[in-house]
Amino acid sequence: MKFFIDTADISAIRELYASGLCDGVTTNPSLIKKSGRDFKEVIAEICEIVDGPVSAEVIATETEVMLAEGRALAKIADNVVIKLPLTMDGLKACKIFSEEGVATNVTLCFSANQALLAAKVGASYISPFIGRLDDIHVDGLELIQEIRQIYDNYGFETEILAASIRSPLHVKECALAGADVMTAPPAVIAGLSNHPLTDKGLAAFLADAKAAGITV
Ligand code: E4P
Repeated sequence: MKFFIDTADISAIRELYASGLCDGVTTNPSLIKKSGRDFKEVIAEICEIVDGPVSAEVIATETEVMLAEGRALAKIADNVVIKLPLTMDGLKACKIFSEEGVATNVTLCFSANQALLAAKVGASYISPFIGRLDDIHVDGLELIQEIRQIYDNYGFETEILAASIRSPLHVKECALAGADVMTAPPAVIAGLSNHPLTDKGLAAFLADAKAAGITV
């Protein structure tokens, strides 16, 4: 499973990407707002750090304007992926970008039927939002499982990008369900290596090494 970092925080991206664990970045207008930076400048800077896909979201709601915005964003760097909302206008824009060979990420997906539509218009990625479904007492994981089955039934190549990941448990569940990618905030990704028994075991090993005078 590929890991994308869900942030527009440059220093967090720089630090995590250096670990070699991450394959790309996703952003959205709320994350850009949080960064307090100029949208295109931040995307350009992220693309200089990261070789993999970097999602940048259009803010238009009409197909023609989405196309113009998407083309402007795509000029920033070769690895920019155009993020489009899962609306009829977004799907139409996605179809046109797919035919032009422009990579797309269809976002704000909350149902299996929406994911089916995104695959039919050739989206590169579909982003089902797990956490936001859990927030309203709907099982977000079930959506990932349904999309996996539908895409496998028909051989769709659209990658399932599990989004709105809020915890290590979400990461494990999405991996078990066969998501191709997951995107999570830096703190969630960094926390995946933590285990109290690892800390306890390491402390004991280090204490014994010191007591035995072991050197390497
Ligand atoms: C994904 O592309 C979105 O940017 C993100 O995962 C949304 O997460 P949230 O629901 O925690 O805001």
